[in-house]
Order: sequence, then C-alpha cells, then structure tokens
Amino acid sequence: MTGSPDAARAEDTTPSGSSTPRPRPPCERLSGCQKSGVCSRSYFWVVMVFFHLYIFNVIALLFYVHYSSGQEDPNRSRDAPSGGRADSTRSPSGGEFLRDVSLTRVDGIRVGHVQKVSLVPGKVHEMRTLSLKPLLFEIPGFLSDDECRVVMQLAQLKGLMESQLMVQDGQEELAKELNLSPEEIFNLLDINQDGQLQLREILTHSRVRDGIWLTPENLREIYAGLKADKNNDGLLSLKEFRLLSSDAFQHFLLQRGVKRSQLVRNSRHTWLYQGQGAHQVLQDIKERVTRLTHLPPTLVDLSEPLQVVHYEEGGHYHAHRDSGPVYPETACTHTLLAANTSTPFETSCRYITVLFYLNTVEGGGETAFPVADNRTYDEMSLIQNDVDLLDTRRNCDKSNLRVRPTKGTAVFWYNYLSDGKGWVGEQDEYSLHGGCVVTHGTKWVANKWINVDPDYQRQARYQQLVSQLPQDESDEAPAPNADTQHSSVHQEL
Ligand code: OGA
Ligand code: CA
Ligand code: FE2
Repeated sequence: MTGSPDAARAEDTTPSGSSTPRPRPPCERLSGCQKSGVCSRSYFWVVMVFFHLYIFNVIALLFYVHYSSGQEDPNRSRDAPSGGRADSTRSPSGGEFLRDVSLTRVDGIRVGHVQKVSLVPGKVHEMRTLSLKPLLFEIPGFLSDDECRVVMQLAQLKGLMESQLMVQDGQEELAKELNLSPEEIFNLLDINQDGQLQLREILTHSRVRDGIWLTPENLREIYAGLKADKNNDGLLSLKEFRLLSSDAFQHFLLQRGVKRSQLVRNSRHTWLYQGQGAHQVLQDIKERVTRLTHLPPTLVDLSEPLQVVHYEEGGHYHAHRDSGPVYPETACTHTLLAANTSTPFETSCRYITVLFYLNTVEGGGETAFPVADNRTYDEMSLIQNDVDLLDTRRNCDKSNLRVRPTKGTAVFWYNYLSDGKGWVGEQDEYSLHGGCVVTHGTKWVANKWINVDPDYQRQARYQQLVSQLPQDESDEAPAPNADTQHSSVHQEL
C-alpha cells in the first residue's frame, strides 16, 4: 500500500512536523498500521459505536423534520394563501395559520430594462420597467384589438354608472351627533398643528370628505364670498374660523353649484365578473394576469372583478392611491367577511393594479405618476400654493412619469412594498397616480386589482372560509356587492 497516493497523503506532515493520520475505513487502517496504538481493536469499537450513533441521530432528525412540517392537514383550505413554493397549513395549536408562503414580486432590474414574458402560447411579450418607486411595468400588446372591443362592448351591455356621486350625505348628522365645538373642528383640520389653517389643509379636507376638488383659487373665492379671511393672509386663524358657521363652506358651494369637472373623479364605470361562465375573453385576461404576476391563481380568482372605466372628453381622475395605508386597526374590504373583529377603518387592499388601455386616446388622458422615482416622498410638498401635483386637470405636465393610453397596452404596479418575508408590507407611497384630463376623444380603461390582505392570518382565514362555501356561492364571494363596495374605496388625498 505504500505506493498508493492515499498512503502518501496519510504521511503528510503539518508545518510543525507532527504526523496527522487521515481518517480511513477501519479495516484499511488495521491492516496498514498494526503497530500503531490508535489502530487497536478497542479503538475500532469506539469508532463503530460513534458511527452508529451518528447514523441514528441523522435518521431521527429526518423523521422529526418530516413529521413536524411535511404533514398535510386534512382540514386545510384548498385556497389558503398558496404561494409559488409552499402551502399554508394550520399550526398544531390551531387558530393560527403558519406563515410559510411567499408572494413572488417581479424584478424591475432598472428603469428601461426590457424583459421577455410568456403570457399566451406561441407569443412573447416585452415588458419594460417604467419606474422602481413604485415598481411599475408596461406591456404593449397585452390585449388584442378584438379583446379590447369585446371588453368595451360587454361593459356597455352591462351599463356604466357615475364613478362619483355629486353629494355625499351623512356628514352633517355626524358632526351634529358628535356635538363638536369650533375649537375641536379647527384642531382636526389643523394637520400640522401650527394654530392656523393653511389652504392645503382645507383643500385636503374637502377632497377627502366631500369628494370636491377645490383649487387654491376656488378657496380664495370662497373666503372672499364668506369674508372669512379678514386680514387676507391666505390663512384662517381660530378667531377667523369661529366666525364661520360649521357648514359655511358646503353651503356656499352648494349655492354656487358644483360641476362634474370639480369632482375628484369624473368618469363612469362598471364591473365585469371573470369567474366560471364569464365571457371567454374575460377568463383569458384573468389567466394572463396570473401568468404576468406569478401570483397563486387562487389569489387572482378571489380578487375584485374587472372594472371598466369610461371617460368622456373632459373626464379625469385626480391623483390617488388604489389602496389604503396599513394601520393595525384597518381592515381590508375583501377579507371583512372573515374578520372576527369590528373596525372603524375599512380600506381596499389592492396589492397590484393592472391597468389596461382599451383604446388609444386622441388627446390627453395619460396616466400620471407624480412622484415616481422621486428621491424622497414628502406629502406636504405635493400641494404648494402655486402648484398642486395631485391636480391632473392642471399639472400632469409636472408629473415625473406619464403613460400614454395606447390600445392593448397594459401597465401594472405594486401598491405595497414587500415585508421582506415574502408577504405584503407597507403601502408604497410612490404609487400615487391619476388620469389626466381627456382633451380630445374619449378614453376606455380597465382595472384588474389583485387583493391581498397585509395581515396574513386574515387572508388565510378568508380563503379558508370561501373554500368552504358551495361552489356557486364562492364564485360570487369576493365581491358580493362590488358595485357599491368598490366604487368609493379609493383613498383620495
Ligand atoms: C383608476 C385609475 C387611471 C387612468 O381607475 O383607479 O387610476 O389613467 N385610472 O384612467
Ligand atoms: Ca395649519
Ligand atoms: Fe387608480
């Protein structure tokens, strides 16, 4: 054996010169070095015992791993959030769902990067990254001309309704019920708590509460009409505010009349179900969205129906986010069914927006992303006295990014960041966007929103609940009254 390479290496010496025998199979060692003490019969037995103990431990470990995580729970929902990799299971303690699901996020690489995607057999689409904040992509030719036509026709057949009603009731009663003093109301409105009401504080309030899109000029006009701003500095002090009646602004506006162009949103829309039995084109679109987003088909199936929107010439949609912020007390509209808590804050949780352009608009109508890829995000600086970046009737040209509506093109973006653990994290503030005013012709778009609850447990519970409903009921479950449920859930600014 001396001539074998093994033997040569066994006699290698360390730099210190001491001999370090390389471990070898016991029998080889026995025959090769009978004179050495470490090659004795007892040494052999010690090694064998340790060897068997080691093997035993490995086997025990494998059994443990198998039985603690690999077991299928027979009660598990077929629809519990199932990511690309693993299925959700109920933990042995019951009640909680183990969070072992990952939602895939498409990688943007860098702005301008083009990646090929396979969405329909025999065809390759190109997907271009438009921004990283928000993560936003554009896919030309996502829909064929025929598909665009069918969707528009189906929407017309179903009938479209005004996206925003002119008057919102119930606010006055609320104020009366609460019996707030002028000081208390002033404090609510004074967002930056500097003891003065800036124009933008009143504007934000009127947009969120009444859905009326006042401009700084409108507001100055109202101040003048009401003689509210005595010292004419553009600010309302508590003293000035006290002299106004609680509904002075609303009263003034109603008397003067509000035009549709002064609303947050000036369009008509309808909802088209995409489940079993729906027109093949609608089912195909859903399937394609699933492939595009790499999300579990169940998540897409359980999301809102397709929303088809029509803007007449002059129509617009001021900047907004499709989803609400994530606070501990907020609940998602789509999982409310399964939430066993009552909450005062309900919002739509739309992880992804896929927006389809169904026609090429002759003039205007771009989708604007005012702060896309901004270095920082500052809510306050969005509305300055001279420029209001949220105003898509006036300031689309100042938006960081605008997408021209081209028939068949789809854009999609994430309204939430990742939580870093494969689930939905915080709202992405950069996802702010709006529809610029249509200057020539009309504009048709469709929205496919993919709903995911940032609270994993609520999403899992919801999916389990829906999976237990009879099939025809569960088809309807995601949006039993979509027309009313989703028409007013956009978070306006
Ligand atoms: C929407 C929306 C943008 C557009 O419908 O939520 O943001 O360009 N639409 O119409
Ligand atoms: Ca203030
Ligand atoms: Fe939107």
